Amino acid sequence: MNVADVFNNNEKWIAEKLSIDPNYFTELSKGQSPEFLYIGCSDSRVTAEDLMGIQPGQAFVHRNVANLVNNVDLNVMTVLNYAVRHLKVSHIVVCGHYNCGGVKAAMQPADMGILNPWLRNIRDVYRIHKEELNAIEDEGARYNRLVELNVQEQCVNLLKTAAVQQAITERGITVHGWVFDIHTGKLIDLKIDFESILKDIKEIYNLY
Ligand code: CO
Repeated sequence: MNVADVFNNNEKWIAEKLSIDPNYFTELSKGQSPEFLYIGCSDSRVTAEDLMGIQPGQAFVHRNVANLVNNVDLNVMTVLNYAVRHLKVSHIVVCGHYNCGGVKAAMQPADMGILNPWLRNIRDVYRIHKEELNAIEDEGARYNRLVELNVQEQCVNLLKTAAVQQAITERGITVHGWVFDIHTGKLIDLKIDFESILKDIKEIYNLY
């Protein structure tokens, strides 16, 4: 794949879209009202639209290393507030994936320079769930479980924000924790019990 291929592909894509609907781009340019905010990993193998089978206009997307929702990351907080308060998405998804390099790196005792503070967030997830994780003998299974628990804790970080708390109360927005299984292509709903988590953390994190 070279850069010229990209532009050729773009021409083909335009022709394909217009052959189905001559007004496709006219409609697309009118505005967006996506139903989903998707927060996923930057990993090149895990693309939001492809794995969900959705089209341009259906998901507002934020991707970073290991799909983190860090409350002092201005980037993710901007995306979140815009999606929830202005675009009024109905669903927020945090989608992790097995074989996540970021999660793997956070399991190594190594100095990774500028990556240290970012990966620290995943080490914090490990610390919170240390008992459960250390009880898993198989390293691969422990790694998979950390991927899942990382998704769960990033969802909890969403619930700690005023924007999400307000949107849950006022219009019943829902938060979802998913994992993409890179071995099979399957999207797994972790079915996290947010109601009980929210009840648990509200006493401390209630802003709204
Ligand atoms: Co990843």
